[in-house]
Amino acid sequence: MEFKTVAESETTITELMIPSYANFGGKVHGGILLSLMDKVAYVVGSLHSGGYCVTVAVENVEFLSPVEVGELVSLKASVNYVGKTTMLVGIRVESMNPKTRIVKHTNSSYFTMAAKNEANQLTEVPGLILENQTEVRRFCEGKLIKTFSKQKRELLKSDMEDVSFEEMKASIIDEKCQLSL
Ligand SMILES: CC(C)(COP(=O)(O)OP(=O)(O)OC[C@H]1O[C@@H](n2cnc3c(N)ncnc32)[C@H](O)[C@@H]1OP(=O)(O)O)[C@@H](O)C(=O)NCCC(=O)NCCS
Repeated sequence: MEFKTVAESETTITELMIPSYANFGGKVHGGILLSLMDKVAYVVGSLHSGGYCVTVAVENVEFLSPVEVGELVSLKASVNYVGKTTMLVGIRVESMNPKTRIVKHTNSSYFTMAAKNEANQLTEVPGLILENQTEVRRFCEGKLIKTFSKQKRELLKSDMEDVSFEEMKASIIDEKCQLSL
């Protein structure tokens, strides 16, 4: 089996936040950041797998502080964990005001990328060579994230499958909604 180091695919993308990226409040749209995160995850995934890959899932997107127009956004990404055909790419986003050089951690997330071959079929990815304690910790966290997200999907599916419409209505009686069917 082939193995690659984390460093072989580690990537940082830096982009200037221009006025057309702003929302009505003058801050950068969350969607712009998500698109940049998807790009960097693709770069890391294709470098590690050595080919084409697709985004399967996005975990834990939290916008911790707003990004301003004129700031430089850096997205640092690496493969944290690998399964058989998927890679969990960890992304840390920071923005820097070029005048003050103050750096803010704006968000972090995990993108699951699946490797595909030319026939668009899932294909096995190389294993990871872990070279320091941080990489071992991230690999363990990645394993947990994969397990929890699978459990969450199964729980949501099974929990709603056997719920009757009457039970659904009863469960939202105190919620902020009106039924108008
Ligand atoms: C995601 C996809 C690859 C799963 O295909 P599948 O045949 O159902 O796959 P399997 O159940 O055999 O799982 C294959 C791998 O995907 C992972 N996977 C499947 N669904 C997943 C999900 N919802 N979240 C995270 N990982 C998932 C599995 O854990 C498995 O990983 P592993 O091989 O590393 O252990 C397939 O649905 C797909 O190609 N989706 C479209 C992705 C795409 O086009 N993205 C671009 C969006 S524009």
